Amino acid sequence: MLTHRLEAIRMSAAAGAEARGLDPSRPLTDADRDFLRKAWREHLVLVVRGVADLSAAAQMDFCRVFGEIGARARPAETRHEPDGAPAEVMYVSNKRENGRVIGSIPDGEMEWHIDQSYMANPAKGTCLYAIEVPREGGDTMFGNLYQAWETLPDDLRRAVEGRKVVNAYGHGGYGIQTRDANDPRAATRSHAHPIVATHPDTGRKLLYVNRLMSLRVEGLPEDESDELLFRLFDHAENPEFRFTHKWKQGDLLLWDNRCTIHARADFDKTQTRHLRRFSIRGDAVT
Ligand SMILES: [Fe+2]
Repeated sequence: MLTHRLEAIRMSAAAGAEARGLDPSRPLTDADRDFLRKAWREHLVLVVRGVADLSAAAQMDFCRVFGEIGARARPAETRHEPDGAPAEVMYVSNKRENGRVIGSIPDGEMEWHIDQSYMANPAKGTCLYAIEVPREGGDTMFGNLYQAWETLPDDLRRAVEGRKVVNAYGHGGYGIQTRDANDPRAATRSHAHPIVATHPDTGRKLLYVNRLMSLRVEGLPEDESDELLFRLFDHAENPEFRFTHKWKQGDLLLWDNRCTIHARADFDKTQTRHLRRFSIRGDAVT
């Protein structure tokens, strides 16, 4: 018996759809799962609003509709999560207990990036659940990398076709998270991926670069590589390819990390922003 009907309501021209009619605390049918996977492929970012008191286990079940839960990318010594939390969880949080943050990347703005793009197999998707959000600010912005490729001028297409970009882990600490080619970790935690990639599920081409982690184009002198990359970043961050999500408590959001970049807007650090994150395991970028 059909007791509810799912709908995907488009949220912007570039990306994002609100999935309505879903109650993540109830078991999903096979038809629900197919609907969600199709909507995710089409809209790149899915949002379920007003989900009250979602447990970590229920959030993991939701993620498993789309793939396997990924391990934490960050080394164990940088973990701040409280004891008893699932091993795969990361709290994106500025919440402090006894003066110490209990999550990761707590405060401020964060530059455009692709999660784990410095790894050989970056996450396929990332899921955030909003437990507590500031009154304003701290928005997450998403850029559609299919559109970035499809609108790329011919000279830039010729310059990147067949080339690879080295993405490196080069951010950390607190405050604004920006590109830092001199971060010593960039040397050890990096991976080269094709700049023109193909999405494994949709078969569509996309422009796989991001300002925070893309350090250099293989085979080009540094000045040429920088010039090319900065033109690509500027192009990919065009507001026309963008969807901005304004967080509300109870939002459950999942983005396709294979075909989007994302960034975080600043917010008042005296207010709490506490999100629970899981990633979905991905494959090599091809
Ligand atoms: Fe991220």
